[in-house]
Amino acid sequence: MSQAFQFQLKNTDGKARLGQISMPRGEIRTPAFMPVGTVGTVKAMYLDQVRDLGADIILGNTYHLMLRPGAERVARLGGLHNLIRWEKPILTDSGGFQVMSLSGLRKLDEQGVTFKSHVDGSLHHMSPERSIEIQGLLDSDIQMQLDECVALPAERKEIERAMEMSVRWAERCKVAFGNQPGKAMFGIVQGGDQPDLRIRSAEALKALDLKGYAIGGLAVGEPQAVMLQMLETTLPVLPNEKPRYLMGVGTPEDILKSVAVGVDMFDCVMPTRSGRHGLAFTRRGKVNIRNARHAEDMRPLDEASSCPASRDYSRAYLHHLVRSNEALGGMLLSWHNLAYYQELMQGIRAAIAENRFADFYAETMENWARGDI
Ligand code: GUN
Repeated sequence: MSQAFQFQLKNTDGKARLGQISMPRGEIRTPAFMPVGTVGTVKAMYLDQVRDLGADIILGNTYHLMLRPGAERVARLGGLHNLIRWEKPILTDSGGFQVMSLSGLRKLDEQGVTFKSHVDGSLHHMSPERSIEIQGLLDSDIQMQLDECVALPAERKEIERAMEMSVRWAERCKVAFGNQPGKAMFGIVQGGDQPDLRIRSAEALKALDLKGYAIGGLAVGEPQAVMLQMLETTLPVLPNEKPRYLMGVGTPEDILKSVAVGVDMFDCVMPTRSGRHGLAFTRRGKVNIRNARHAEDMRPLDEASSCPASRDYSRAYLHHLVRSNEALGGMLLSWHNLAYYQELMQGIRAAIAENRFADFYAETMENWARGDI
């Protein structure tokens, strides 16, 4: 093995961290935003574009890929990277979260989860071991433990039960994953909105000495202040020298505020999903391109951007495309949004490197608040 999975912390500025993950398929500069490629495609994007925007890693989903085209089939086709033509690292989510949000009829117990496919109604069972086996068949570089994420608000007893079972599942996933120096299996901290349960979860996972730690069960209906409070409670418990990944988050503001308390990695469907619905994220906050005020505006979304979608296409044209439900509208706005997210991450990394993160934070928040002009 040429390169073992390694995380190097390069600088800290306040609680914000600049780092780098090194692994055989490439390096991941952190803080990192990972575009979501649920079914093996970052929707409405060519992967060449995703790479050119500066993404070092993308996400795939165990739940979707096991149902279609199937994990064994992906393995026969040479693995996910080969199938989708992406050579850099891929992180896969374990499936538990998607089962809860997407599938019908599910039964969850200590053994795992039984669920009905949203594709064809067939019945499936996934144990922690099978989740890791599937992620291996996909040839995923960073694999996630199977966990149970409880939607908030929820009873404390329910949050506690799910958190404790998720810790036991982390142990089983660690055994199933075994020793793979070039890859990593991350644990997932649960515990809902209960600080003491979060701390217990983080301590138990820390004792398992995993290669990285995710914070799950957030951005599931709670206010942003609660999410940040949970992060501030949890992160100090996790080992400093391992990467921390906040799952499924979020808006540019959620990301900036989470970097400020020490998160290293993010993923979210927001830039692509919102783009397909006509919402653009910009240096001056959110712009709803469907709004009538853009109908005759020949200015681009951002003349200073190096992304063609942001710099070369008029708002008037984007407005027309989105209002006409044309595929190109979703493609251009997904491209623009992912460019903005990567530009934000690049700005964050440069600011931490130069110990001026507090100034960058204040300027960025001010520009968002000033609004579109
Ligand atoms: N994606 C967003 N939140 C979660 C979570 O809590 N668990 C998993 N597995 N994936 C997520």
